[in-house]
Amino acid sequence: MSPRPLLEIRGLRIDLPLDGALRTVVHRADLTVPEGAALALVGESGSGKSLTARSVLRLLPAAARIHGELLFAGESVPAMTPERLRAFRAGDVAMVFQDPRAHINPARSIGDFLTEGLTAARRLPAADAVARVTRILREVGIADAERRMRQRPHELSGGLLQRVMIAAALAAEPRLLLADEPTTALDVTTQEEVMAIVAETRAARGLAMLFITHDLELAAAVCDRVAVMYAGSTVEELPADRLRGGAAHPYTRALLASRPSVDDAGAALRAIDGRPLSGFEAPDGCAFADRCQRVVERCREERPRPSAVGASTASCHVPHPHPHPHPHPHPHSSEEAGSHA
Ligand SMILES: Nc1ncnc2c1ncn2[C@@H]1O[C@H](COP(=O)(O)OP(=O)(O)O)[C@@H](O)[C@H]1O
Ligand SMILES: [Mg+2]
Repeated sequence: MSPRPLLEIRGLRIDLPLDGALRTVVHRADLTVPEGAALALVGESGSGKSLTARSVLRLLPAAARIHGELLFAGESVPAMTPERLRAFRAGDVAMVFQDPRAHINPARSIGDFLTEGLTAARRLPAADAVARVTRILREVGIADAERRMRQRPHELSGGLLQRVMIAAALAAEPRLLLADEPTTALDVTTQEEVMAIVAETRAARGLAMLFITHDLELAAAVCDRVAVMYAGSTVEELPADRLRGGAAHPYTRALLASRPSVDDAGAALRAIDGRPLSGFEAPDGCAFADRCQRVVERCREERPRPSAVGASTASCHVPHPHPHPHPHPHPHSSEEAGSHA
């Protein structure tokens, strides 16, 4: 039995103004994060990952228009009143960004940054707020919490500051963590430490996570399921343990092949031919068609819709057949499911 969905994004489309006109940049994002689970959202730079995550908190530019469904525990996020939205942002969902320094006031102390949300939005007495953040700082591996709280952001390394941002996110005791490339700016060792802390605190709190990264292997290592985004559309979603050999979408397979493996140091990166497109540039058919080795005529005429391919949901007219199809040995998935998706 699967846990009930905490975050459901269905057919999300985002239009942004470009050169004076509204243009579609996210065409179709479909994502589900079950209660307590971790879903990775993976894709090259410009594919629309951050816009999708920010839409969950309604942190898009004022001129942006969104379509489709965005549900948190069954409640429509776009329909929230300003008052409900404030409580939602202060308590239900917390976000950690790629560059902590861009999201923290350099002039104020770490302690003020950490407690202000609790004393302002949650109306906690100052002493209780200090006690709570001190405990959480220890939880994220910051032993000398009292000293750190008196310091300013520039006195902390990038790795320490990202731990502070995670502590700030956890302080609100959210049910969902949105982590947008939280370790991309860190060196590999620090990246591993920060990810271990995220995994521990998630397990201890039953916290669900949407983890954004461009690194497919990191995604598979820390998440239960993986969604792959290309040029403004989620093109495949599958269990993390099915990525190797089980991916149905040619783009997912190309992404996997393009990552140099650790024991393969020095080997040339097998880059995907052609350049990634942003959602603004996506053609009418499949956006990956020009870079795809399996392309057929239909791919350029008709944008593929999501359909079941083995354990995957893939938007592709010519998906790789699943090596362990179940329950049916030969799913004619793209035609069948596509017609009524
Ligand atoms: N505020 C904005 N105004 C106009 N275009 C934007 C804005 N934010 C992002 N974009 C564009 O939308 C596309 C997707 O951006 P983003 O979601 O940040 O991608 P990713 O996080 O996958 O790298 C990019 O082409 C980017 O340039
Ligand atoms: Mg981004």
